[in-house]
Amino acid sequence: MPSTKEREFVLSRRAFLGGALATGAAAAMGTGVLAATRAFGAGTVTRHPLFIPPVVSPSGLSLTAKPTSIDLGGGKLSKAWAYNDLMPGPTIHAARGDVATITLHNALSEETITHWHGMVVDHPNDGHPAFAIPPGGSYAYSFPIQQRAAFNWYHPHPHMLTGGQVNLGLAGGFIVTDTHEAGLGLPSGSYEVPLVIRDASLDRQGNLVYKPRSGGFVGSISLVNGTRDPYLNVDTALYRFRVLNGSNARIWRLALANGAAFTLIGNDGGLLAAPVQLTTIDVAPGERLDLLVDFRAAAVGDRVMLRDVKAGWDLLEFVVARQVSVPATIPSTLSTITKLANPVRTRTFSFDGMSKINGLEYDINRIDFQVPLGDVERWRFTTNGNAPHPVHVHGASYQVVARTGGRARLFPWEAGWKDTVLLADGETVDILIRFTGYRGQYLIHCHKLEHEDMGMMSNFEVI
Ligand code: C2O
Ligand code: CU
Ligand code: CU
Repeated sequence: MPSTKEREFVLSRRAFLGGALATGAAAAMGTGVLAATRAFGAGTVTRHPLFIPPVVSPSGLSLTAKPTSIDLGGGKLSKAWAYNDLMPGPTIHAARGDVATITLHNALSEETITHWHGMVVDHPNDGHPAFAIPPGGSYAYSFPIQQRAAFNWYHPHPHMLTGGQVNLGLAGGFIVTDTHEAGLGLPSGSYEVPLVIRDASLDRQGNLVYKPRSGGFVGSISLVNGTRDPYLNVDTALYRFRVLNGSNARIWRLALANGAAFTLIGNDGGLLAAPVQLTTIDVAPGERLDLLVDFRAAAVGDRVMLRDVKAGWDLLEFVVARQVSVPATIPSTLSTITKLANPVRTRTFSFDGMSKINGLEYDINRIDFQVPLGDVERWRFTTNGNAPHPVHVHGASYQVVARTGGRARLFPWEAGWKDTVLLADGETVDILIRFTGYRGQYLIHCHKLEHEDMGMMSNFEVI
């Protein structure tokens, strides 16, 4: 006998499929959005100061997931779900060697569990859906932080409910620092700013609403750190932006409207070997970017728009507000990336339709394969349509080594260590992966959250 929740999900699966048929309506909506955002560029929009979540330590942290009201800008409150009444939730700031002791409290009306995306933790701390807690419940996490510096994040991971909970506002940043990175003298303090970029839809009252579609949620507005049409006052200084694509399904192509280059210094798994100058960068759901933007040559009063070239949206306006002279240099080498090599075996994962990996929908009780701890393996991701699929693996970072078909190349933002990689239509992507942290159960899934919720996910065990 299926539980109430399972029955409800059957219904919401139907809603997904129904949504897929309504592509004409979605396309029409897309045009309207584009027309509306062109007006933003014309300066008709009131911009709001960018929200920057408070920074907290992972030691003794209490996180409560609950329905709340959020000011998206301009003072009017919108209903949302959030951690500690903040959207995004507080930015956890930890140093390698720290121990995280975090208690999650569930004040939602449905089960939840929090996953630390990018953090290498053991199975009981990984936020696997089997550990979901009921309304009113709590979960005590305790794990040592033993990995290189990186910008990770946290979000819910309950069985078939992840898309809705993330979309309504449950997500936050998790920064890990280490002594190597600290020695580089990268911009810090007010010159280091997290940017959680996502799309959203609001109802007539201005509340966040989740309307899943099997092809992936499509929001009608963008939010940066939960702020609508944001601006950030900047000094004439070098800035470090820790970017997360926190969308359910939308892929951004970031650019600065004045054509200036970003200096890409890192991604999911921390710093790259060396910085790269780029004028556009793609970032798929779950992926992170570590970007330097140089305002040192700007003049007070200059404005620079961070844009999404794909939808033609203005995301965040930088307003140069203060002349300073802060010494900063961009290091020419950033970190040592030891290349994985000589895989002992190859596994193939076919991302089928919108809900299956290798022909199977997710079963919370089924373990699909076993990986020996310490072995380097080649994992080959393929798809037969319905892509793009951002493929995410828990429990280890990996290196992207080849892409054939489709875009047929690797991009600078896919160098170094990754935990999420974009698989587009017609592509085969090879990664090399080695689990060195823990034995136990982990997940591989599509990070288009509607695909994940419909079953494009698999349990495996590191043995
Ligand atoms: Cu960010 Cu398993 O997810
Ligand atoms: Cu993850
Ligand atoms: Cu997918």
